[in-house]
Amino acid sequence: MQTIFNTIKEIAIKIDFAIKTEDLGYSDSSNSSGEEQLKLDVKSDYIIEEAFKDVSLVKDLISEEKEGVLSLHKEGKYTICYDPLDGSSLADVNLSVGSIFGIYEGEPKGENLVASAYVVYGPRIELMTALKDERPKLYRAQEGLFNFIREVTLNEKGKLNAPGGTQQHWCDYHKTFIDDLFAEGYRLRYSGGMVPDLHQILLKGGGIFSYPGTSDVPNGKLRQLFEVIPFAFMYEQAGGQALNNKGLRLMELVPSHPHDTSPCFFGSNYEIEAMKEAYGVKH
Ligand code: AHG
Ligand code: MN
Ligand code: MN
Repeated sequence: MQTIFNTIKEIAIKIDFAIKTEDLGYSDSSNSSGEEQLKLDVKSDYIIEEAFKDVSLVKDLISEEKEGVLSLHKEGKYTICYDPLDGSSLADVNLSVGSIFGIYEGEPKGENLVASAYVVYGPRIELMTALKDERPKLYRAQEGLFNFIREVTLNEKGKLNAPGGTQQHWCDYHKTFIDDLFAEGYRLRYSGGMVPDLHQILLKGGGIFSYPGTSDVPNGKLRQLFEVIPFAFMYEQAGGQALNNKGLRLMELVPSHPHDTSPCFFGSNYEIEAMKEAYGVKH
């Protein structure tokens, strides 16, 4: 796995350079979720594909920016599902963006995820990696090298609330849940990029990020294989929880299509228990 994490470090340096130097405009194509692709989405996808072509451990690649599966090495062990540039529409307003990687052994589904990683392109480049039976590890780049900073553990309860989705389309009990958190003193932290938003909650010790199903998008917006499951693993390894709207662990998701989405809630224990209560899914 270290080989894959090292490749992700090389990728991170290259994508960061692309963000800082390349055209921030749209390409003339769209992706499988029907979203217009930025030139940077396409470039980041290309950088990742080229990097993993040299890693024989990698059997298949599944990208947010590609329709199907790209087979790389027949004898490879892992399928890497990735979002090359998450929050890319924030690049032109100079907010932080990220890359997300889910590493699966066997069929890509929640229970087969064996490791995950994400990169934050902010004032500094940061990398978080997660493996089974370990706390997630935070690294920060300095002059092209990643230094280990610390292990990350969530507190039982936090102070931050990052509520995604269009409020106009929230159902009543979701709105009540979010309002109640604010009434308890939670502070709003939402940039519109799930990588920096979830990263902030992890590093500040706790809180909740939600992207619910809404009347306009009943299964939410965030994609299971490249966004939801890799972060679910991070949050569980950090001592938190990650559930869907039915109270099921996101790590149990089995997508029927690579681009399937799911409503999702990531948080420390107190906030997730409150969500279960509000959604009537307390088992
Ligand atoms: P992407 O840029 O890869 O399409 O993903 C953007 C995602 C995610 O980062 C963020 O949490 C969410 O979209 C924001 O959506 P809203 O604008 O609906 O809040
Ligand atoms: Mn994304
Ligand atoms: Mn993306």
